[in-house]
Amino acid sequence: MAQPSPSSTPTAGPPASELDPLRDAAANAGRWVGAAVQSGLLAGEPEYADTVARHFNYVTAEWEMKMDPIARVQGQYDFAGADAIVAFAEAHGMKVKGHALLWHGATPAWVGDLAPAEARRVAEAYIRTVVSRYRGRVAAWDVVNEAVAEDGSGLRDTVFLRKLGPDYVAEAFRLARGADPQALLIYNDYGGEGSGVKSDRIYELVRDLRARRVPIDGVGLQMHIEAGGYPQPDEMAANVRRLVELGLVVNVSEMDVRIRNVPGTQSARLDAQRRTYRDVVAACIAQPRCHAVTFWGFTDRYSWVDGFFGPDDPLLFDEAYRAKPAFFGVQDALLGR
Ligand code: G3I
Repeated sequence: MAQPSPSSTPTAGPPASELDPLRDAAANAGRWVGAAVQSGLLAGEPEYADTVARHFNYVTAEWEMKMDPIARVQGQYDFAGADAIVAFAEAHGMKVKGHALLWHGATPAWVGDLAPAEARRVAEAYIRTVVSRYRGRVAAWDVVNEAVAEDGSGLRDTVFLRKLGPDYVAEAFRLARGADPQALLIYNDYGGEGSGVKSDRIYELVRDLRARRVPIDGVGLQMHIEAGGYPQPDEMAANVRRLVELGLVVNVSEMDVRIRNVPGTQSARLDAQRRTYRDVVAACIAQPRCHAVTFWGFTDRYSWVDGFFGPDDPLLFDEAYRAKPAFFGVQDALLGR
């Protein structure tokens, strides 16, 4: 479990418990608004759980629906964390996104020791077992996560490419569809939210999948970004448009907005963050088939960013669950203000 962020946020906005629910504003816009969550915090920290239930109608497991925690030991499945998150969602009228079936960033080490034929058998069994377990209870799956190389040259060199070959992406989607005919099946990635070589390569990947009638329904734009940086709203809008024109839905899947490098006062940083949250959510809302926005956490008390990029305040609520200007930027975008 992540430790509370060491950085302090001077804002003293209203507590989450006193704010109009973001999920109501999202519902009015016909959208899902979500957050990445951890089952231990849902069970052990009432203010965390209450804030999730009040403000979001969509949850993604930050960790517990990945292969590493579920299949830590070959031949065994541990669904305790995943089951807890799905149960919480169902108890609070929320949808669930399963994240992520195949991702090199959360694959147990024993997979790398398998011969290709065994790896294929294991991957097929894993996808069928996990997706079948939550059939009808998970609204969407990130079937494959971050399969495209950063330089846009092709598929990233992962254990899946090496063991299963370049068609593993299509095969994973077919297996997921076979296990759940209703769930939205998503390709999820970062660094392709606007224009650029990686964005173009992701577009080519999903265009090819659609052309081959592979059962892919959408693309997740992770949106781990810096305030005022990439993507600019117009390039995000153009990218979303071209993906939608393939017949796909699009979702903002893991949004957080770093501000440590924004010049000026903390107040200036927080306002730049507010504008970026507003602009990205508005660019999604402007496109009817951009159907969901998920934040990668929701309180600066727990964010992966601190451990990866250094202390920052990337989310909507501060460490004390008080609203930051970013919260109101999202609310304004959802309300079309
Ligand atoms: O909680 C367990 C603990 O019980 C266990 O003993 C320990 C052993 O390593 O692991 C602990 O789990 C950690 C988990 O976060 C929960 O806090 C894992 O070590 C740690 O690797 C995991 O990091 C997550 C990371 O993905 C890798 O799965 C981050 O929380 C999560 O924010 C991050 O999210 C990713 C998305 O899935 C994909 N896009 C990028 C994004 C940021 O990296």
